[in-house]
Amino acid sequence: MNDFAGIRALVTGGASGIGRATADLLADRGAQVAVLDLDPSGVDKPLLAFRADVTDDASVRAAVTDAADALGGLDVLVNNAGIGAQGTVEDNDDEEWRRVFDVNVLGLVRTARAALPHLRSSSHAAIVNTCSVAATAGLPQRALYSASKGAVYSLTLAMAADHVREGIRVTCVNPGTVDTPWVGRLLDAAPDPAAERAALQARQPTGRLVTAAEVAGAIAYLASPLSGATTGTALAVDGGMQGL
Ligand code: NAI
Repeated sequence: MNDFAGIRALVTGGASGIGRATADLLADRGAQVAVLDLDPSGVDKPLLAFRADVTDDASVRAAVTDAADALGGLDVLVNNAGIGAQGTVEDNDDEEWRRVFDVNVLGLVRTARAALPHLRSSSHAAIVNTCSVAATAGLPQRALYSASKGAVYSLTLAMAADHVREGIRVTCVNPGTVDTPWVGRLLDAAPDPAAERAALQARQPTGRLVTAAEVAGAIAYLASPLSGATTGTALAVDGGMQGL
């Protein structure tokens, strides 16, 4: 399949997990792809790699400008960089709240702000945000993380409304638990990793974790002209977690 030929894409958090699977899939399907990441050292050709911290506005601006220059413009932005947090509202202090919102919410805003002038010049511009089932389901022990992804969901709707007349579509994917290095770290830190994995699998009616490739496929669909009539909405990739 070469349906992304001529498309120039930037994927934040593209060095690992969902972001890496997305960057690889878009490149396999013919796109020119740049990755923006805190640590892009493991990213290799044909992907272009740019080091930036989404909590640092200057580094985001520089990386987005460099990526757009290297690609000759931008058609697709995948806002995927994110971090997790566990606990109830009693467990996370103000500093943790600021840190997670700085990455998951403001990070997305900074990247979008830097990318929008480039996307406006594209004839098929799309922004796809990696949100989460946590945005719309009440999950225990995820108060801070859920709130940050709730903001990502609201931003998806607001940005879709703001930019629809400019021809820029804005959507998000809402994954359930995805088998990525992030979840690997979560399991490693659990007292009984096997029991924790079984509990995460049991949360999803399909009885298994989502794969990064499955989320990448949904992002690719939302970034492609096949979803040209779709904006301001979320696509669940959660093993039936919310719908069933
Ligand atoms: P991951 O930890 O495997 O990859 C995240 C990438 O983001 C890493 O390469 C990391 O270096 C980069 N990153 C983190 N902070 C950054 C910063 N300040 N600036 C630039 N890059 C930064 O994680 P995974 O699982 O692939 O998650 C990606 C996205 O998917 C996140 O937004 C997460 O909230 C979301 N998600 C993940 C789920 C899961 O179960 N793994 C479920 C639902 C959503």
